[in-house]
Parts: sequence; structure tokens; C-alpha cells
Amino acid sequence: MTAQLNPHGDVAVLVPAAGSGVRLGPGVPKALRMLAGEPLLVHAIRRVAAAASVRLIVVAAPAAEIDAVRALLAPVAPVVVVAGGAERQQSVAAALAAVPDDVDIVLVHDAARALTPPELVESVAAAVRGGLPAAIPVLPVVDTVKEVGPDDRVLGTVDRTVLRSVQTPQGFRHDVLATAHATASDPLTDDAGLVEKAGIVVTCVPGSEFALKITRPLDLVLAEALLGVR
Ligand code: CTP
Ligand code: MG
Repeated sequence: MTAQLNPHGDVAVLVPAAGSGVRLGPGVPKALRMLAGEPLLVHAIRRVAAAASVRLIVVAAPAAEIDAVRALLAPVAPVVVVAGGAERQQSVAAALAAVPDDVDIVLVHDAARALTPPELVESVAAAVRGGLPAAIPVLPVVDTVKEVGPDDRVLGTVDRTVLRSVQTPQGFRHDVLATAHATASDPLTDDAGLVEKAGIVVTCVPGSEFALKITRPLDLVLAEALLGVR
């Protein structure tokens, strides 16, 4: 059944889905790769649409796949589909341009984090609603981390207690994200990085193991196993 979004919600979710998935190996663009019989993008959008305060979802699709993505998502949830760009940051900027001014909170969420629970979407949005300009979901780093020189020589051991692995959705006050994108120079892999560069405080909230980013073939195997858990 097609999900209904909340017309009184205060959240727009941007879903960059225009990447090709080089690290996953040859095939269709990553957002359209199958997981348990459905494309990753369908898994992702179904979960975002189930979050109670979401009013608008904007997907940045590969330019050649816009019609296919519209048709794919029509039975899942009402979404706006725009053409993505060559870099993730351009895809996010294209999606952001489709968000009306009266939406207060904007979340940016990788399609590749297809199993992210609606609860995480809500907890990030709630952190911004509670007064933070920017909030990102994180997990502790579990491996020992080394700094290594060009000749593979270990230069030192990094104190992992001060490190976090960062996930999406990343949440922002609409004006904060808009300003960060308008003034961005170098492409970065996450939106919080742009906001940090603009001197705005970014705050961590607890992430979820289910929000893993499907990047390599092994991640598809892990994701399939996780689908059996919840
Ligand atoms: N993305 C995007 N536009 C791009 C590049 C990436 O919208 N030009 C999106 C991807 O579709 C993905 C998210 O950003 O949902 C995170 O990127 P990543 O996991 O790196 O996906 P890909 O770029 O597709 O993978 P790879 O780097 O292995 O090619
Ligand atoms: Mg990429």
C-alpha cells in the first residue's frame, strides 16, 4: 500500500540516490540493485516514509533513470524525483532546491543506508526540533585505528575513544543546510562537514547498526541477514 506522508510534518528528507555503486561491482546504479527481491531505494524510501514527522521526500536519481525511479516509487510513497549530479554534494544540492521555505528541518539520507529504521529518522529530527542546528547519528569505532605513513610504517595509534563512525540521516535546520551548500567550495562526502566548515556546531546522537551503508558486496549479505532480524 502507498504510504501517506504527514501534511503537518516539519521535516523534508533528501535522499541522494544518484551514485553508480562502483565498489559494489558492475551492474545497474546502486540504488536500483536488488536486496531480497526489491531495489535498495524501495527499502530506504519505505522506512523514511514511515517516520511520523516527514512531510516531503526528495530523491536525487541518476539522470538516465528519473522516469524509472518515479515509476518504481509511485506505489511506495509520494516522492519528488530530481536529477542528481556527478558528486554526492551536487545531488544533495539538487534535492535541496526542491524543498519549500516553510519546511523547518531538512534531513539528508543516503539511499545506500537502505535498512535505516524510521525511529532513527525521528530521533535525528527530534534533536534538531529540540534546538540543535545540526545533528548526526554516530556509532563508536570498534577497531583499533592506526595512522600509517606512505611506506606502510605505523606512525601511531589513534585514541579511538574520541572517534565516531558517522551515519545518515544527518539533520539540519533548513537555513543552516541551505547556507552551507550555498557557500560550499570543495566536495565533501557528508553534509555535516559543510556545516562544520561554516563554523556551526554539529552534535552527535546515537546511531543504529541497521543504518549501515551498503557499499561492498559483503554489505548486501549483511543487509539480507539484518532483514531477517527485524
Ligand atoms: N550519491 C549521489 N550522487 C552521486 C554520488 C553518490 O546521489 N554523484 C549517493 C549514492 O547513491 C548513495 C549515497 O550518495 O546513496 C552515498 O554514496 P556511496 O555509498 O558512495 O554510493 P555510490 O557513490 O553509488 O558508490 P561508489 O562510491 O562505490 O560508486
Ligand atoms: Mg560514492
